[in-house]
Amino acid sequence: MEKLWDVLRPEEQIELKLRRLYTQHHFHPYHLNNFEEYGNYQQSYNFLRSSSIITFTGNDGRTMALKPDVTLSIAKNTPAGEARKVYYVEDVYRHDRQAGEYQKIYQIGLEIIDEITWENQLEVLKLAWESLAQVGEGTLDLSHMGILNGICDRFPEEDRQNVLDCLRDKSSHRMDELTEKAGLSQEESENLAKLVRLSGDFESKYQRAKVLLAAYPKAQTGLEELKQLYKALQAENLSEKIRLRIDFSIINDADYYSGLLFQGFIKEARETILYGGRYDRLMSRQGKDQGAIGFGMKLNHVGQKLPTDSESSEYLNIALPKGRMGDAVYDLFTKAGVAAEGVFEDNRKLIFCDEDNKLRFFLVKPSDVAIYVEHGAADIGVVGKDILLESKAEVIEFLDLHMGECHLAVAAHNDFEEDFSRPLRVSTKYPQITREFYEGLGRSVELIHLHGSIELAPLLGLSDVIVDIVETGTTLKENDLKVIQEIAPSSARLIINNATWRFKQERIQKVIEKVRKQL
Ligand code: PRP
Repeated sequence: MEKLWDVLRPEEQIELKLRRLYTQHHFHPYHLNNFEEYGNYQQSYNFLRSSSIITFTGNDGRTMALKPDVTLSIAKNTPAGEARKVYYVEDVYRHDRQAGEYQKIYQIGLEIIDEITWENQLEVLKLAWESLAQVGEGTLDLSHMGILNGICDRFPEEDRQNVLDCLRDKSSHRMDELTEKAGLSQEESENLAKLVRLSGDFESKYQRAKVLLAAYPKAQTGLEELKQLYKALQAENLSEKIRLRIDFSIINDADYYSGLLFQGFIKEARETILYGGRYDRLMSRQGKDQGAIGFGMKLNHVGQKLPTDSESSEYLNIALPKGRMGDAVYDLFTKAGVAAEGVFEDNRKLIFCDEDNKLRFFLVKPSDVAIYVEHGAADIGVVGKDILLESKAEVIEFLDLHMGECHLAVAAHNDFEEDFSRPLRVSTKYPQITREFYEGLGRSVELIHLHGSIELAPLLGLSDVIVDIVETGTTLKENDLKVIQEIAPSSARLIINNATWRFKQERIQKVIEKVRKQL
């Protein structure tokens, strides 16, 4: 028997251990078809956090999809009024933005669909904890829709999504803009900015959150529920490999989730590997009067070595941009005392080590910074908002450095007149932003993707207009071009990797505070 066990791959061994664990807790196996009708997913597009689904036409002409998610299917296939307590092991197929192709995700998870009791919530959290502990050393981060709704209630309805985005990005600078717009007092604005940044071990951050949320009753109720769950989990004597944290940046789709939210991280993976929460609203959107809670965990990382070197966890790795913005950023980091004087002097080097403070700086192409940070090769990076918008990198956008301030804009020749009888030809370094901008306007375009000196395109008749950044406006002026539409402002942002934030938070925070003081 032991020999048989040994031939299993590490992820298969974990799968079997978890199957046994879930069975002991009276969860029943649930098997799904690989294909489902596309319409099932289309209606719940936001729930999937991913836009592309593999579809094909079935024999009877219906559009079918290779399943991108399990929770949705279980919710959909559970008749109104019926209870379910199930676990699953399934492959799901989603488009991976980083890789630019579809990826198979090997997922294990469980769901309870019923009138959800306090014991159900505790049991699911406990199983999430034990599932994570099977995979590695890590954290289970808690939040609550009640807390997020309590905060959102202080803002006009139209800004609700913006407030959630600020919380997700830990972007206190954008929260400052929203509190000002909502006319909130200075004291309340400062409290909300602190809430955006609040993150850390549950025990220490709970008290802080309680004070900051004191004026929001709905949020207090959510926080108290977390506290009770935390206390109950502490009493359970669970594996010490997992720490419980509090963090309001873990936001699942607010249209579907209704209470407890949690996400899991392990040291060996540089992205969230476990997503879970209470999703009563997803059920009620399907006209069903049941509660629901569950989680799913990716097993793809198990047994895979990270492509980064073993030293990387010892250092704090910081990716800075080369080129135009570079010098100002190096100055800022030197003045802040993060980088030692003269660190960046050898201009042929790409890696600069500060052995005393265990810091490592990489100088990379500005458009690559977000990639290094998103993949966790760097813990911190500095990148233009234009590049973040274009790449849609999933990173924490912590600080606006107010450097490299510019605008993304549409520009054309001074005597340009638009011909609406044909698609507009647009040259740009920003194809995603451009596509989305014109889709929003309902204007059909022909995109020409260039990599530099964009201003040449309309001069040589390659395109009608360009979408580019405008800083001083000199380049446009010297080439007889002018801005005809503004798209979005941009400036340098300090970004952080989502997962390493959980494991190097104190060191990262020290760097951020030093930099913030210089702004
Ligand atoms: C950027 C941008 C514009 C110019 C705008 O180019 O693409 O060409 O700066 O700045 P201004 O408004 O101050 O004139 P960059 O210098 O990065 O070089 P590139 O054209 O090779 O991309």
